[in-house]
Amino acid sequence: MRILISNVTYLESAVSQDSLNPVDIGIEDGKISFIQEHLPSRDQKTHLKEAAWDRVIEGRGRLALPGLVNAHTHLGMTLLRGYGDDLPLMVWLQEKMWPIEDQLTEKDVYWSSLLAIGEMLRGGITTCADMYFHMGATAKAVAEAGIRASLTRGVQDVGGSGLRGLEEAIGFCQKWQGAANGRITTMLGAHAPYTCTPGLLRKVADWANRLGVPIHTHVAETSTEVHQIKEQYGVTPLGMLAGNGVLDVPVTAVHCVHLEEDDLELATQRGVRVVHCPGSNMKLGSGIAPLPEMLATGLIVGLGTDSAASNNKLDLWEEMRLASLIHKANMQDATVIPAVTALKMATCHGAAALHLDKVGKLAPGWVADLVLVNTEGLHWQPPSNPQASIVYAGGRNDVSLVMVDGCIVYDQGELLTIDEDEVIYHVKKIAHRLGLL
Ligand code: NI
Repeated sequence: MRILISNVTYLESAVSQDSLNPVDIGIEDGKISFIQEHLPSRDQKTHLKEAAWDRVIEGRGRLALPGLVNAHTHLGMTLLRGYGDDLPLMVWLQEKMWPIEDQLTEKDVYWSSLLAIGEMLRGGITTCADMYFHMGATAKAVAEAGIRASLTRGVQDVGGSGLRGLEEAIGFCQKWQGAANGRITTMLGAHAPYTCTPGLLRKVADWANRLGVPIHTHVAETSTEVHQIKEQYGVTPLGMLAGNGVLDVPVTAVHCVHLEEDDLELATQRGVRVVHCPGSNMKLGSGIAPLPEMLATGLIVGLGTDSAASNNKLDLWEEMRLASLIHKANMQDATVIPAVTALKMATCHGAAALHLDKVGKLAPGWVADLVLVNTEGLHWQPPSNPQASIVYAGGRNDVSLVMVDGCIVYDQGELLTIDEDEVIYHVKKIAHRLGLL
C-alpha cells in the first residue's frame, strides 16, 4: 500500500518546535519513505502525482503526530472497568481482581482485548504494552485489529502457579515474537517483587536472557510493597530485582512510585526503562512517582494508562496532561515536565521504554505509525504552540485518522478493523455471566 498525505503540518518527533510549514509525507511498505516541503506545483513532480499512489489524503487542517504509545496496560481487564473502584491497590487486587480473574476464559480475554484496542486506536494509540494471561487470545486480537503491541504473559507465584505460568510465557514468546509483520513483539513478565519468589525471578531472568527478550515488571508501586519487601528481604523492591538477576537483561519497570535515592542510581546504572502511570497511581491512591528526579538522572520514561479497571480510561492524551500537571503541583514549580516532555513520553520515549526500534517518530525509515489530528476546533485556536495545545487543550476526540504499519485502521469516525457492535454485544454478554451487570 502506497499512501501520500499531502499538505499537512507535522511534529517530527516532539523533540523540537518543528516548522509548521506544510509537508507531504510518503508512506510505502509500512514505512515513512519521505517527508518534504509541500509545494503547490507538486503535480509536476512525477512521484507526487496522484496516480502514483493507492491513496492520497488531503492534510489541510490536520496535524500529523507519531502514533501514541501506551507503554503499560492489561487489555484483558478492560471487562472489569468500573468493578472495584475507590479501593487501595492491595484490597483492590486481593478482594476484587484476583477472585474474578479466576473466572475469565480465553474468549473473555479476546473480546476484552478487542474492546481495549478499539478504544485505544480511536484515541490515537498505535502501540500498547500488555501484561496478562490467556495471552494467545490477546495476540490474536492484536493481529486482527492492526495495532502494534509488546505482549507479556505475566507470571507470579500466587497460588503456586509460577512455573506453569513461566512455561506458558516461554512458549508464547517463541510462538509470537515478530508475528503480524513484526507488529507483535514479546517480553517475559514477572508481575512484581511482592508476587514473585526470588527463585521465580531468577528463572525469569535466565529465560529472558536465553530468548533475547526484555522483562516487563511492576516495581515499587505502593509504600506497602516497599515496607513488605524490605522486611522480608532487607532490600528495596528494585534492589530485590537486581539481586535476582532481573536487571541483567533489558527491563521495562512500571510505576516506580516509591524509588529511593539508591534505587535511582541503580536504575540509571543498569539502563532500566521506566513507565509512569499517573492516572492509575492517583486513582489507587498509590502516590506520585519522582518523575522530575528520574528524568534528571537521564532515565528514559514512557507513559501508561495501566488497566481500565484502575484508571478507568485508556487515554494517553489524559495521561500526558496528568503527567505534566501533577508534578507541577507536587513540586510547586510550573517549569517541571513541560508539554514537550510529556509528548516525548507519549511517543518516542514510550517506544524506547518498550525497547522498540524505529517506532515513535515521524522520520524516513521509521515505521508508519501516525495520527492525524483535527486542529480546526475552537479549543485549538490560535495555533501558536502545537505541543502545548496537544498536552493542555487537545483530547482523543480530536483524532481524525490513525495509521499503524502503513495501514489505515481508523478514519473519520470509523474503526476499519473492528466491528464495534459485535464487540459491545460480546462484552455485555460476558459481563452478565460474570455478574458485573
Ligand atoms: Ni499494571
